[in-house]
Amino acid sequence: MTDYDLHTGIGILDSQHQTFLTILEKIKNCDRTDSEKLATLIDELHLYTLYHFETEEKLLKESKVENFEAHQKKHNLLTEKIEEYRLENLTDSCLLAQGMCDFLEKWLFEHILETDMVDLAKVKAGENH
Ligand SMILES: [Fe+2]
Ligand SMILES: [Fe+2]
Repeated sequence: MTDYDLHTGIGILDSQHQTFLTILEKIKNCDRTDSEKLATLIDELHLYTLYHFETEEKLLKESKVENFEAHQKKHNLLTEKIEEYRLENLTDSCLLAQGMCDFLEKWLFEHILETDMVDLAKVKAGENH
């Protein structure tokens, strides 16, 4: 998966995407039997996701990207999914972690390549006006 070029060309968003992956990596490598540690990391991921989506949506909105609502809906669905993971983790942390990481990693790569790239190109094009 690391072979893909995930750079959108907007520095702040690229570094936020990288941080998202770094937190996922921490979850993958943490001791799965330590449910408190896992809960803390899922909280961190949840808060970071909200923060990133807020930054990105602000840029999309300022640039009046026409499919802003559709993009925001995808963000909202992921936020809901992470909420579900947070709750599931309270009962079944060992089983949850690997499936969650695989899902989130796949989501992030696909979302950046198929949605962020397209819409953020419009943000960048607008900067030149
Ligand atoms: Fe996005
Ligand atoms: Fe993004």
